[in-house]
Amino acid sequence: MEMKRILESEDLKEEEIKEMVKKFLRDVRNGTWKSQGWPSYWTDYAVSKLALNAYSKVLAKRYNINNSYKLGNTTKLMSVNCFCPGFTQTSMTKGKGTHTADHAASLATILVLLPPHHLPTGKFFLLRNNTTFQQVANSKL
Ligand SMILES: NC(=O)c1ccc[n+]([C@@H]2O[C@H](COP(=O)([O-])OP(=O)(O)OC[C@H]3O[C@@H](n4cnc5c(N)ncnc54)[C@H](OP(=O)(O)O)[C@@H]3O)[C@@H](O)[C@H]2O)c1
Repeated sequence: MEMKRILESEDLKEEEIKEMVKKFLRDVRNGTWKSQGWPSYWTDYAVSKLALNAYSKVLAKRYNINNSYKLGNTTKLMSVNCFCPGFTQTSMTKGKGTHTADHAASLATILVLLPPHHLPTGKFFLLRNNTTFQQVANSKL
């Protein structure tokens, strides 16, 4: 619960993510990861995604529109989002999945090529079964 509170905090810091990962590795080494409440399925995968999403949230906040940074004479904005392709037919899934890698990649490409001012930041995009770009759900990281 404490970990959830930290990760959901608007003031989440990079150091706190590192501490979370270190604690996970310690719990694995000590054989206490189950009793410490880490996910029981796809454990290392889930924790690595948790860290990635959390770090994306930190970066999105650091480079948000109200906190743009200067590069030479121009002000640059950076969007930081996560994109989950859903159950996709790739090597990882041994070819199983509800859609092809091409379909997932084409939607991801549309997203990253949006003009900077139309591209949101700090979002989690999830591609569900047979969704079109318009239907791609998004929520706050
Ligand atoms: N497929 C799904 O259903 C699904 C669902 C949700 C999320 N995802 C996520 O989507 C991403 C891509 O997954 P995928 O299904 O395309 O997996 P994949 O078929 O296993 O492909 C992974 C790719 O990552 C490369 N790679 C692995 N370790 C690397 C490293 N240390 N440095 C550089 N490249 C590395 C691999 O290169 P080599 O071929 O050279 O090894 C391979 O091209 C992953 O982050 C996965 O978690 C996939």
